Order: sequence, then structure tokens, then C-alpha cells
Amino acid sequence: MNELVSYSQDNELAIITINNPPVNALSPGVPEGIAEGVARANADDAIKGLVLIGGGRTFIAGADIKEFGKVISGEKKEGSLLPLLTALEDSPKPVVAALHGSAFGGGLEIAMACHYRVAAKDAQVGQPEVKLGIIPGAAGTQRLPRLAGVAKAVEMCVSGAPVKAADALAAGLVDQLIEGDLLAGAQAFLREKIAANATHPRTRERNDKLGDEATNTPLFAAARESAKKTARGLTAPFAAIDAVEAATKLSFDEGVQVERKLFEQCLFSDQAKALMHVFFAEREVAKVPGLSPDAKSIEIKQAAIIGAGTMGGGIAMNFANAGVPVLLKETTQEALDRGIATITKNYSNTVKKGRLTEEAMAERLALITPTLGYDGFENADVIIEAVFENMALKKEIFAELDKRAKPGALLASNTSSLNLDEIAATTSRASSVIGLHFFSPANVMRLLEIVRGKATSDEAIASAFALGKLMKKVGVLVGNCHGFVGNRMFFQYMREGHFLVEEGASVEAVDKALTDFGMAMGILAVDDMAGIDVGVKVRQENAKHEAPGRRQPLVVDRLYEMGRYGQKTGAGWYKYDENRRATPDPAVAALIEKTAQAAGITRREIGAREIVERCVYALINEGAKILDEGYALRAGDIDIVYLNGYGFPAWRGGPMWYADTVGLKTVYDRVCEFQAQHGAWWEPAPLLKRLAETGGTFAALGKAKGD
Ligand SMILES: NC(=O)c1ccc[n+]([C@@H]2O[C@H](COP(=O)([O-])OP(=O)(O)OC[C@H]3O[C@@H](n4cnc5c(N)ncnc54)[C@H](O)[C@@H]3O)[C@@H](O)[C@H]2O)c1
Repeated sequence: MNELVSYSQDNELAIITINNPPVNALSPGVPEGIAEGVARANADDAIKGLVLIGGGRTFIAGADIKEFGKVISGEKKEGSLLPLLTALEDSPKPVVAALHGSAFGGGLEIAMACHYRVAAKDAQVGQPEVKLGIIPGAAGTQRLPRLAGVAKAVEMCVSGAPVKAADALAAGLVDQLIEGDLLAGAQAFLREKIAANATHPRTRERNDKLGDEATNTPLFAAARESAKKTARGLTAPFAAIDAVEAATKLSFDEGVQVERKLFEQCLFSDQAKALMHVFFAEREVAKVPGLSPDAKSIEIKQAAIIGAGTMGGGIAMNFANAGVPVLLKETTQEALDRGIATITKNYSNTVKKGRLTEEAMAERLALITPTLGYDGFENADVIIEAVFENMALKKEIFAELDKRAKPGALLASNTSSLNLDEIAATTSRASSVIGLHFFSPANVMRLLEIVRGKATSDEAIASAFALGKLMKKVGVLVGNCHGFVGNRMFFQYMREGHFLVEEGASVEAVDKALTDFGMAMGILAVDDMAGIDVGVKVRQENAKHEAPGRRQPLVVDRLYEMGRYGQKTGAGWYKYDENRRATPDPAVAALIEKTAQAAGITRREIGAREIVERCVYALINEGAKILDEGYALRAGDIDIVYLNGYGFPAWRGGPMWYADTVGLKTVYDRVCEFQAQHGAWWEPAPLLKRLAETGGTFAALGKAKGD
């Protein structure tokens, strides 16, 4: 046996253990090791059955994703798992897979080729391949419906979501749950099967759960309909449905061939490359080059928040959800009551949806202590300020915190646009001051921009990342520039949306082009959701940071003057019914036309392609400036910001990855054209120009820096 898989014997049973920490991924050597173990057990007359189990904290959590990358790039050929699965299934001696932790992807495919599966109560099984733009490639789509039924197989392969052991048992995917010691339980289970002299079932021969045409036809049609909504733009979920459907119509071997073809189409697709990039970018994002390895994060046992408004309330929920007690300070009892009422309503809604128990809600609420004073702040390990966006107020608060907070406490501001260094300068401990830019709703949105001031210490950065992890957010380290990374790019994107309608595109056409591109929402719908008033105020503030004399949008200011603030006032770019459902508003179309005419703007037909290029290239050009100026560490970090905070489609990899796929020369040339047509807003980013001229990519840039 090799060092990744060990073999031992307990009386008449062989025990094959996978030891490839941390997650027992199917790296080269693991399948070979298992196959060797199976062969050895079958060659040994003393052995009557085999247990396959994971060492450490999990069974096999899936493929080694780095290996996919090598296959895609042509560096190596894919090592198929199929021969191993056949060896397991054809083993004359019964094999039981003993599952704990995760049995995902190839891990589940291996388990399904065993004759039996037992699982610890905390185990989870799943086929998460769609999340990487692919489908199960080792007969998962063929064996899963045979064990769990067609509907469950479709659900699992399309969503990629994990299934808990108890559900897996109910679905027939697992034969028994084991309490206590898993290995002992698996052995006892197997001994019973051996003693019963049973024929040991081969999954590929089990056809009783495959349904018939009458039940399957509507099932697959419904699955495709539903995937059009839940998996908009993605191809892998549809390929997964096709593959499961093949299981119901063809023999096992033919089905496997269909799956293989679909798998390969997916594996070599741009979507898979983009989604694998996202997978790795998300793991890289917490790595900060140059950060002292000795920088330890503080232990977060008590938190405090100032301001119980939109953001403060959501942030308090994040702490409570993580089990951390939190003080929530306001200026008036009324504001405090309002804040707590909103939090309570949010939790109640989750309870109503069945995603939280009443007890858990009570526990979480009990962790939030409303207060009007600073008592108890001296015990807080982290304090987050989320008051109005007003520099004088924030300075006053940080000066107060400096007096009250214990040494080493993390002092954070949730400011979206103010200069963090200026805030930090009011304290005697600028090294402990950091920006924690949450996104609204703060209890839902995954993105957390961690803003590094010029004095922010390595410990503070490490603590901010730890805090993000505790709150199940994805923390991205950004520099202290106006708008940081996300909003600084977003300003450019929004501006183009505003200009496009003035130049002749309809509101609906702009939004449709962007949602067709894959954005979660169109830019004008976003403007209405966030509030036209908020956007206008932000733009007025931005003007202080811009070169003067640039073209400014006009219509949006008219909407603001008319009190059309968007969803909250029932009208903005669209009009809204009482359920906030949008419909086009002819009054807005007329207003746009009139305003453009008065300003002498020539109106023309603008196609979807130009709409997307104007909006998305504006993002890319600004992203390139941010990267060049060092306000983001890697292009991948910018992608993570956009995927988690701004509804950019993951299957396009994020704006910077997308730019690479378009080709930076193409993007640069178009940016230059836009500059010629529209002026200074479109000044090409020097980095974009350099990469376009040298044939470089944003992705390779990260690697060249040694990240
Ligand atoms: N709303 C967003 O989408 C969003 C997103 C990211 C960041 N931010 C930033 O978060 C901060 C808060 O924004 P918001 O939308 O939650 O504002 P908000 O108006 O909803 O809430 C601010 C709260 O702070 C309270 N407050 C003011 N002075 C206080 C003091 N001295 N002590 C205690 N409480 C005080 C107010 O009573 C109010 O309830 C701002 O800096 C904003 O720029 C907002």
C-alpha cells in the first residue's frame, strides 16, 4: 500500500483507510491505493469482507481540484475512477463504505460503487460538481438515481447541495446510521451481512428506483424549468439533468458513456474554467503577502456595535449567529427599539420559513444587549462603528472609543466612503483601527471588505479575517481609496447605465442586457433598490474626488428632485406596485427623452452588446486602475468582491477574469474607442494598456507577483 491509503486486518475483515489530509481528496495515489487494497483483500482467503473508511475528520471530500486544472490545460490526461469503481462493485467479497464528515463528488461515487454504505450521524453526502461547472464524471449520475431515486438524484446533481446522513438514509443512499464508533459499527454491519449469506447488491444492477416514462417525463421537464430560474446562464445543471435522464432510458454502460461525453463538454467549457478560478480565488483571498506569520488574531469573545440602523442591526445578527455576545448602542431609546424590532422581525421571518427554531431565535436575541451608553465597551474584543456617514460624528466616536476600549481591541468602522486614516488619527492607536465594510443586508451578504489603513497592524488584519470567517463571510483585504474596491468600480458602472439611457437605450433594455449577461439585477433596478436619493448623494460626494468638468448624468437628478427615490417611494426608474414589483414607466421614458433633447444629446439605437461593453468594461478599466495602484492585492480578489457583493455571475469568473477571456487587447481597444467618443471618463488604465500591448492577462499577473 502507499502512504495515502493503509491496509489493516481485523480477523476476517480488511480495513482500507484513506489518509490524505486534510479532506482525503482523490489525489493521485489515492484511487490506486484503494484498488490495491481491494485486490489484496480479494486475494487473501482469510478475508471475508472489506471496510473502506476515511482517516481523520472525513471520508473522501471529493476530487483534487488542482488535478482538473491540469487536465483542462492539457498538462495531463484525466485519471478515470471508473476502473476502481468496477473493481469495488465486482469484488466477490462485500465492501462497505463507512462515511463520516463529507462524502462528496468522487467520494460519493466511490461509496455508491460499494455494496453497502453506513454513515455517522454527522456525515454529509453530495455531488457538488455543478458548483465547478461540471457534472459527476464517474457514474455518479447513473448510480445515484439507482440508489436514491430519480427525483433525489436530479435535486442533488442540479443543486450540488449536501444531504445530511438522516436524509441520505431516508432516500436509500445510506443503509444504516451508526451511533458511536464508526469503524466498529461498520464492521458489525458487514459481519451481519456476511453471516446472512446474502447476495451483496451491485448498484449498477439495481433498476427498481429508475421510474417509468410516465413519471419521469414530467419530472425532467419540471427540473429543466426550475433550473432555468435557479441556474440562469449555467450549462452544467442542464447537463446533469440530461445525464440522469440517460440513466432512466439507457443501460448502465450506455448511460455512463453519455455522462462521460457531457462531463467532458463541461470540463473544457469556459464556465468550468471560470468557476474553478473562483474556487481558487476564494481560497487565496485570505492570503496576504508580507503579513507577519507571527500576527495572531485576537480572540473574539465579546463584541460591541455603535448604531442600530440598517447596518448595525445586521452586523449584530452576524455576531449573534456566531454565538458571540454583542452590545448594541444607540443614542435614543426609540432608535434602539426600532433596531431591535427589525432584528426580531428578521429572525421571525427565518423561523417562519422553517430555517431557525424558536429556541435558537431566543438564544440569538439574548446575545444582543441593547444599550444607550458605553458601559461594558471596555470588555469588547471588537467594536464596530455603524453610525451615519458623517466624518465629524465618526471622529467623535473613535476619540471616545480610544478612551474606553481595552488595549488590543479591534476598532472598526463600517464607513463606505470616508477616509479611514483620518478616522484612525483621532485615536492614539491607529494600528488597531480598520475598516470593516459590510454590504446590505449585512446579515445576508457574504462580502466583507477589510480596509487597511496606513497604520493598520498585521494583528488587526489577521483579526479582521478571523472575524469574517467567524461570521461566515468572505473577507477581502482592500486599500483605503475612495469607494474602496467594490464601490469605486460600481460608480463607473452605474454612471454608464445612466448615460446609456440618455443616449437612447430604454431603461428596460439596459437592465435586460445586463441580466442577459448574467448580472443578478440590472443597474437601474439596483439604483431603485438601493435608493436614487442614496445614489445621488454618493455621486455628489464623489464629485469632490473627481477631475472637474466631466459629463454628469442628468435624468437621475430629475428623478431625485421629483421624489422618485426608487422602490421605497413606489417609483424611480420603474414604477412599483405594493409588492415592489417593477413595471416600465412611460413617464420616465418621456422624461429621459425631454432631458436628453434639452441637453443636446443625440439619441440613437443602442444594442445589448454596447450596453454590456459600456457597463462591464467600465468596471474592468477601474478594476485595472485599482490593481495597479495596489488597492487590491490580486485580480482574483476583485473578482471575489464582485461575485459576492454585486451579483456578478460566478460562471463568468468575475470582471477581471471575464476581461481575460474576452482578451485584454480587445477590451483595451474598445476602451480607447469609448474614450474617443465619450471623453475623460474612459481614460484607459495604464495596466490595461501594458497588458494589452504585451499580451498579458490579469490572472498571470497575480502569479508573476508570486501569490
Ligand atoms: N446602508 C448601506 O447599504 C451601507 C452599506 C455599507 C456601509 N454603510 C455605512 O454604514 C454606516 C451606517 O449606515 P446605515 O445605513 O446603517 O445608517 P442608518 O441611518 O440606518 O443607521 C445609523 C444609526 O446610527 C445611529 N447613531 C448615530 N449617532 C450615534 C451615536 N453617537 N451612537 C450610537 N448610535 C448612533 C443612528 O441613530 C442610526 O440608527 C454608514 O457609515 C454607511 O455609510 C451603509
